[in-house]
Amino acid sequence: MESVNPALNDLSGESAPGGQPRPDSREQHLRRPRAADGLAVHKLVADSGVLDLNSTYAYVLLCTDFADSSIVAERDGRVCGFIGGYHPPQRPDVLFVWQVVVAASERGTGLGGAMLDALVHRIRSERGGHPVTVEATVAPSNASSRALFGGLARRHGVPMTEHDHFSAADLDPEGAHEDEPLLRIGPITAPLND
Ligand SMILES: CC(C)(COP(=O)(O)OP(=O)(O)OC[C@H]1O[C@@H](n2cnc3c(N)ncnc32)[C@H](O)[C@@H]1OP(=O)(O)O)[C@@H](O)C(=O)NCCC(=O)NCCS
Repeated sequence: MESVNPALNDLSGESAPGGQPRPDSREQHLRRPRAADGLAVHKLVADSGVLDLNSTYAYVLLCTDFADSSIVAERDGRVCGFIGGYHPPQRPDVLFVWQVVVAASERGTGLGGAMLDALVHRIRSERGGHPVTVEATVAPSNASSRALFGGLARRHGVPMTEHDHFSAADLDPEGAHEDEPLLRIGPITAPLND
């Protein structure tokens, strides 16, 4: 897998012989989610204090029916990161990142970027190297999330463009929600190395 931070190299746990997870010395790895992760993901999102919290049922669905477009990070057997994504039915070449979250204790270590890279790599590998464009809506005030997606564009040498998308009024009649413009990164087309 590709990774920004050398300390996070080889954390995918998805390419080991026999399909077994291959934890590194930090006992942390990235893998496809499963139903049993739903509750932990729900808690991770709740603890973020920033993201809109969905039902546990929604996270169990993401971890099962949408597992191919989602990823979890685990340390010592505990879920410490999650990306819930899907392919919009009308635009199957797009990976839409619905929510990305990293436990507060792990932030700023490159884990968010490593999860994004691993997920894009896995999706492209399973599609014979086909290009993928990543999309996400990010509130203007969310500096870390903007930096996260900007980093994805930079590492892959592709543009990141911004477009009007969901307005504050679409999301909350009381005005408690910010606008959610769309960030589009890609298409990511470079040949895969493995
Ligand atoms: C957004 C989030 C997932 C990023 O995860 P992370 O593991 O800390 O990200 P990384 O360590 O890979 O850093 C990614 C980039 O963000 C930058 N960054 C990290 N924290 C930052 C902060 N508080 N402010 C500004 N930039 C920040 C990093 O420097 C890095 O940029 P670079 O590639 O230019 O060096 C994490 O901060 C988080 O869970 N936030 C709460 C939930 C949220 O806001 N999710 C996004 C909306 S869906």
